[in-house]
Amino acid sequence: MTDSLLHGFSKPAFPKPAFPGPVFSRPHDGPHALHPAGGLPAPLLQARSVTLEYATRHRVVRATHRVDLDVYEGDRFVLLGPSGCGKSTLLKAAAGFIQPVEGDFVLRGRPIHAPGPDRIVVFQEFDQLPPWKTVLQNVAFPLVASGRLPRHQARERALHYLDKVGLAAFADVFPHQLSGGMKQRVAIARALAMQPEILLMDEPFAALDALTRRRMQEELLRLWDEVRFTLLFVTHSIEEALVLGNRVALLSPRPGRVRAEINSHEWDLASIGGTAFQAASQRIHRLLFEEETEEVRA
Ligand SMILES: Nc1ncnc2c1ncn2[C@@H]1O[C@H](COP(=O)(O)OP(=O)(O)O)[C@@H](O)[C@H]1O
Ligand SMILES: [Mg+2]
Repeated sequence: MTDSLLHGFSKPAFPKPAFPGPVFSRPHDGPHALHPAGGLPAPLLQARSVTLEYATRHRVVRATHRVDLDVYEGDRFVLLGPSGCGKSTLLKAAAGFIQPVEGDFVLRGRPIHAPGPDRIVVFQEFDQLPPWKTVLQNVAFPLVASGRLPRHQARERALHYLDKVGLAAFADVFPHQLSGGMKQRVAIARALAMQPEILLMDEPFAALDALTRRRMQEELLRLWDEVRFTLLFVTHSIEEALVLGNRVALLSPRPGRVRAEINSHEWDLASIGGTAFQAASQRIHRLLFEEETEEVRA
């Protein structure tokens, strides 16, 4: 069984509104100045001066330092930074698995203290799906277990989202019969079926081969176009960040701090390889790995 059920590579049909940019800006400019919507809706998810630490036996590891983020409804917000800069830790804190030592995360103004069905995480690992449940059972189970829906309706909704990720025909197979890409698609369907306020994704395509990864990026954009969920997406790939995000926060190496925010909605999969795209990638690379103090504009 392969990913051949996927359609071929093509330009996604999601809208890329005309907008000057990308704009590179220091974080103190404030996210409002950068938000494509222009207006000022209240953020859906906010990180307010979030410092996160791990206490090991011998020392305290500071993973992030006073991170501020404003994620708006419908955003495809990307956290981009080198390995070890605290991206996963930030996502776990947004999910409510760990608590900041300073600052807080708030969802619609309410502080986050614990995990909840309003925030669902899709991880990188392919073993997120209980292997003893079929694809359909995997997607329907959280709906029933959380008391969201009775069994019959959960099944219907699960099938609806499996159809959206192109896996309706695989409802009755078990995870071990699926490729890595298909497993990730099931995990995405399971997350979306819960209709969370925000979908949190931690490098979900990083373990896939390059071609499958590209297809998954394309599919995620198409899904977003259909469903219009709010996404907080973690990656260490500059290319993936530019393609998938409408906004990208660049995190500096340890401890992670927001170095800059970028409007990236002008880029899509068709942009890759173009000179403007490469120039933007190089500029981001410099911002990530070198000290830059000046505000710059592409
Ligand atoms: N359970 C843990 N205990 C101690 N240190 C940790 C733990 N998890 C992560 N870290 C450290 O916290 C920092 C941030 O980790 P992480 O959030 O996983 O980074 P990223 O996802 O950006 O690669 C790293 O220095 C890492 O070594
Ligand atoms: Mg990580």
